[in-house]
Amino acid sequence: MSTARLLPGAPVAEAVLDDVKARVAKLKDRGIRPSLATILVGDDDASAGYIRIKQKQAAELGFESPHQHLPGDIAQADLHRVIAELNDDKGVHGVLIQYPIPGHLDYDAALQTLDPDKDVDGMHPLNMGRLAVGLPGPLPCTPAGIEALLAHHGIPVSGREVVILGRGATLGRPLAMLLAQKRPTANAAVTVVHTGVKDWPRYAQRADILIAAVGVPGIVKPEHVKPGSVVIGAGVRYEGRRLLPDVEESCAEVAGAITPRVGGVGPTTVAMLFRNAVAAAERANP
Ligand SMILES: NC(=O)c1ccc[n+]([C@@H]2O[C@H](COP(=O)([O-])OP(=O)(O)OC[C@H]3O[C@@H](n4cnc5c(N)ncnc54)[C@H](OP(=O)(O)O)[C@@H]3O)[C@@H](O)[C@H]2O)c1
Repeated sequence: MSTARLLPGAPVAEAVLDDVKARVAKLKDRGIRPSLATILVGDDDASAGYIRIKQKQAAELGFESPHQHLPGDIAQADLHRVIAELNDDKGVHGVLIQYPIPGHLDYDAALQTLDPDKDVDGMHPLNMGRLAVGLPGPLPCTPAGIEALLAHHGIPVSGREVVILGRGATLGRPLAMLLAQKRPTANAAVTVVHTGVKDWPRYAQRADILIAAVGVPGIVKPEHVKPGSVVIGAGVRYEGRRLLPDVEESCAEVAGAITPRVGGVGPTTVAMLFRNAVAAAERANP
């Protein structure tokens, strides 16, 4: 029987988006209409669906969201040209390139042509560098969402042992940098484990906060969880429409608090995208 407190993402996202709405309204009072441009390459149904959801939410929050739907066989140079046009457009404050893009294209190369100040995903190498040295800038959305989730639910992080399973560029690696920063909602003793650490369960078992950022369904089992600790499941794999989380559901029988199987980290990631977008519009209009 589950005894763990659930840590849903929806109330966290709602609080972040309320703040975004208020900031959008302030910009509009000054005659500025924040604009988040979206780029979709090709006709992948899932990606098209994600873009539609983000555009709908952008409109609800008061953003303009000009959309570029590019052909699936577009050349890399033409994709770069579209990004360059959006970089030069002073009316566009943020740009989202929906991931993944077709296999013949190089996503990282495209991302590097984007103006770092318009990078709402916070994934441009310059923004990763800003995070590494503690300069302000757009933060990677999922790591920022996890910090916000812990803070919103009153989970103390400062001074505690956080173990992150996974060192991927979108999640584990930037999350480790974020949670080790000197700030009341971070300030943790962070350990990162991965395939190079065969006895990673030994580290997981001593974590006050264990964060799964892998993408291997069920890799985190109850025997890896310290009784009463906090477990955050961020890694997932999709098989068709089925979502397979890293964290086995029965971990809730050992943990003190845990993200739900669905609706944990995901909603906070999307909220952070809009937080980055409104911040980009504010930066462009000091
Ligand atoms: N919820 C959200 O909004 C959200 C957003 C972004 C990503 N995600 C999910 O988060 C997960 C990670 O994303 P990512 O982009 O960082 O992925 P990634 O680049 O593939 O990184 C996966 C990491 O997991 C480690 N790993 C894989 N198998 C392992 C094993 N058996 N034992 C120990 N470590 C293992 C890898 O170790 P090595 O480095 O040694 O190979 C790697 O560091 C994915 O499932 C992704 O779907 C979720």
